[in-house]
Amino acid sequence: MMRSVLAAAALALVPSMGLAQTGDMDRGETIYVKRCLQCHGEDGDGLGPAAERLNPPPRDFTLGLYKYVTSGFDADMPNDADLIRMIRDGMPGTAMPGWSDMLSQQDILDVVSYIKYFAEIEGEPETQTDFGTQVASSEESIAAGKLLFEDNDRCTECHGIEGKGNAIKKLKDDNGDRTWPRNLTKPWAFRASNDPRDIFARISVGIPTTQMPSFADPASKKSLSIEDRWHVANYVASLAKTEKVVNPDNFVVQGTRAEGALPGSPDDETWAAVPHSTFMMIPQIVGQDRFFTAANDTVTVRALYDTERVAIHLEWDDRTHSIPGDAKAASIADEELYEDAIAIQFPRQIPEGMEKPYFLMGNAADPVNLWRWSSGTADAPETARIIDAAGIGSQTARDDSGDFQATGSYRDGTWRVVMTRALETANTETDLQFEQGRFVPIGFFAWDGSNGETGTAHSMTTWYWLQLKPAASSKPLIYAVLAGLLVLALLAWWGGTAAARARRST
Ligand code: HEC
Ligand code: HEC
Repeated sequence: MMRSVLAAAALALVPSMGLAQTGDMDRGETIYVKRCLQCHGEDGDGLGPAAERLNPPPRDFTLGLYKYVTSGFDADMPNDADLIRMIRDGMPGTAMPGWSDMLSQQDILDVVSYIKYFAEIEGEPETQTDFGTQVASSEESIAAGKLLFEDNDRCTECHGIEGKGNAIKKLKDDNGDRTWPRNLTKPWAFRASNDPRDIFARISVGIPTTQMPSFADPASKKSLSIEDRWHVANYVASLAKTEKVVNPDNFVVQGTRAEGALPGSPDDETWAAVPHSTFMMIPQIVGQDRFFTAANDTVTVRALYDTERVAIHLEWDDRTHSIPGDAKAASIADEELYEDAIAIQFPRQIPEGMEKPYFLMGNAADPVNLWRWSSGTADAPETARIIDAAGIGSQTARDDSGDFQATGSYRDGTWRVVMTRALETANTETDLQFEQGRFVPIGFFAWDGSNGETGTAHSMTTWYWLQLKPAASSKPLIYAVLAGLLVLALLAWWGGTAAARARRST
């Protein structure tokens, strides 16, 4: 106590030393115990009480090795600024939270000086990453970067031809923990960011303790000049899908009236022109056997219909093609291998108003239909079933799924599946009956079979809406109906106020 008062007084006397430069280790310890110990452990070894089963595990500070650094690839310590940044902003896709709301810049400096102490890191790194002159992004630079990305299997070796991080082989970090090359089309999954400057740093230094190597190291056969690293960085930044994650204003899948025949193949080019919605998927952590480590995180949905049928196209990135019984698929899988699968959830009846069944597969009072497709095994083809569900533990696959059909195709880290069904069926009690213009609740579940996902272990969305938008030609009719409704509403309102007026005047 006395010591820190004196230290504060000393600092106050010498303002030019600047608070921004130094951290107070004692204050840092207090903050660490309160905020960081639970994961990073009392001794800084990453074995805190909350660390169990976290993947990636909390950093072991006693080794002094950090991943997202800008010091030179051959330096033996990070810059303070690197640690400050990760603590302030957190590391998306891991349990490491950002602390900018809770800790001041000075608090962060203090805790940095404390965590460095676990590995007795002192002084400054011997070398720094040379950023040279940044090459601005342009079509030429992106094209040059694409060539370098693919040339010599430089980045494609791990990140795949389209950069989706689809597993080609099993990678482990220095601790023996499984690591997955990042899906570079998903900027929200980056631990740092997909700003070209960040990507340049990653390419230059690599990601220490993981398989991601340095491409600035002249000893590497695949090393790149500074200028070429900027080209690759610009290319990687250009891979980002245009939607950040999801458009928060977008809750409705716009079902479109097909011009010609409904495309039955998931790879049919017609789908590209159909309006799409992308929804975030989260791990199933609300029902029984909660599951925290689901692999799939988004699904993109399109819908077309004609006078008879509706076709729903689902597209999602899955880093593994999971084929039970296939030796190569088994060698990449994390645990036991199951089929990949996806399901659409519908209520049995279009609800009146905004009421919807329980979002996790309904319940006894309000059961749901699941349209489920699974990818097949080495010995068995894909399957398409309708399942009646009344809660997460209560599912009955129908022996006869009527004319329901589903088929999928996997390419370069992406599944595409089309499901079709008649708009109306004979089972009006148990099957949803589609009607043009009505808003139908719709939800999604996905399973990555190589990630041990089966049964209640899956990712999921909440309810969204599907609307089969009336074709252009029927618009006048709809407007006529709407106008009619409006007149009725006005009459009712007028009637109501007239009644009120009458009451007031008596
Ligand atoms: C809920 C668990 C959790 C808490 C609480 C937590 N961390 Fe972390 N932290 C992690 C995980 C997990 C990682 C590893 C992420 C990875 O390897 O990609 C990590 C990594 C780090 C890194 C390494 C960054 C790098 O580039 O390698 C630093 C530094 C760090 N944490 C500091 C802190 C500090 C300081 C606190 C407290 C203010 C804190 N953490 C609290 C889970 C946590
Ligand atoms: C030998 C395998 C391997 C190669 C080759 C490789 N990477 Fe990686 N890369 C990884 C792994 C593994 C990770 C994830 C590390 C982790 O989990 O922390 C990763 C992560 C990344 C990230 C994520 C950064 C962030 O902020 O999250 C970027 C960007 C990246 N790599 C770009 C590249 C580029 C560009 C190349 C080629 C110049 C390349 N990688 C070559 C394995 C590789």
